[in-house]
Amino acid sequence: MIPFINVRAQREAYLSEFKQAEQDVLDSGCFIGGPVVQTLESELAEFTGAKHAITCGSGTDALTIALLALGLKPGDEVIVPDFTFIAPAECVMRLGGIPKFADIDPETLQVSAESITKLITPKTKGIIAVNLFGQCAPYAEIQECARANSLWLIEDSAQAFGASQNGVPACTFGDISITSFYPAKPLGCYGDGGALFTANDELAKKIRLIANHGSQTRYIHEICGMNSRLDAIQAAVLRVKLRHFKDELKKRSENTRKYDEFFAEYNRNISSAQGSASHFANRAKIVPQKIADGNTSTYAQYTVLAEDRQSFIAKLDDAKIPYCIHYPQPLHTQPCFKGLAQACESASRDGASNAIEASQKVVSLPMCAFTDVDEIIARLRKTTI
Ligand SMILES: Cc1ncc(COP(=O)(O)O)c(C=O)c1O
Repeated sequence: MIPFINVRAQREAYLSEFKQAEQDVLDSGCFIGGPVVQTLESELAEFTGAKHAITCGSGTDALTIALLALGLKPGDEVIVPDFTFIAPAECVMRLGGIPKFADIDPETLQVSAESITKLITPKTKGIIAVNLFGQCAPYAEIQECARANSLWLIEDSAQAFGASQNGVPACTFGDISITSFYPAKPLGCYGDGGALFTANDELAKKIRLIANHGSQTRYIHEICGMNSRLDAIQAAVLRVKLRHFKDELKKRSENTRKYDEFFAEYNRNISSAQGSASHFANRAKIVPQKIADGNTSTYAQYTVLAEDRQSFIAKLDDAKIPYCIHYPQPLHTQPCFKGLAQACESASRDGASNAIEASQKVVSLPMCAFTDVDEIIARLRKTTI
């Protein structure tokens, strides 16, 4: 059985380091916050070049804390991508804000700055850009749009800690940037975890306050905050993984290169078989997500756009290759956002949008540093996809 993400192989590879780090925390008696968490925060700041790195309970919490720190009020509008995981829109809605859904680029699948611009109204307060599947959103344009309209920018890098754009590391593009350490993420822990990044000292102070019950001094609560802290055991796991993270990113890139070569050959065979008796003549193309010029990706997902998704999925099932659909419907069509559809720019193109098309074509294949892509490709060849 091929795992979609091989967390077991990763644990085996660094087992003695994990065991030592976990035992040290258990023996220390310090389970929340403390020196291991502080050291991890310094290492995260050093890795990204961000001035402040502040850990918290999850990526979703990180988004909520960021919105609170930036002063989101009920009725404020925030522009989010229509095609992504629900968390950005959900957090806006939870705090009484109104998410407005921007369309995406059809090839990179990143949120479109042009679509964001069309959604700005006098009520718009900010933008949450998502680094979807591991590469950065188009920040030159998004930052310009935010600046020109006096909006704040949150960079949701839940899937892209370790990516870069024109040499600038992810987690440094927003007024506040966030990431997630959910186990399936490229840098994941053994439970929930997240972090916020900012260059702004005032925001960093607010973030720490909010994440810790609004308190700096024990039992003195300056504001109403929340409880969102990273456990020391998760920090210890992350510190081990961070030591190997650059090597893992290289392996993820190498796995991607193999997949890309396979699908390029597959699509060439289709093109040259047109009108012939070859079985390729009636196949539909399968095109990997495009990585934009200047971007490096963490390949949090290896996602392709399949013209005929149903038959591709049938072949994957035959070959016993696991897959995921990230994501089966755009956010503006989710039941929980019913009534907000008119706030969706992507719905304005006669009901069609790149987000809708992507949701009908995407398929994600197994991807991590320990994925046996050679075996997957061999199986794909056997099923003559
Ligand atoms: C783009 C994006 N934002 C936020 C989150 C939320 O992260 P968490 O699961 O740690 O709450 C995720 C998790 O999948 C995500 O993919």
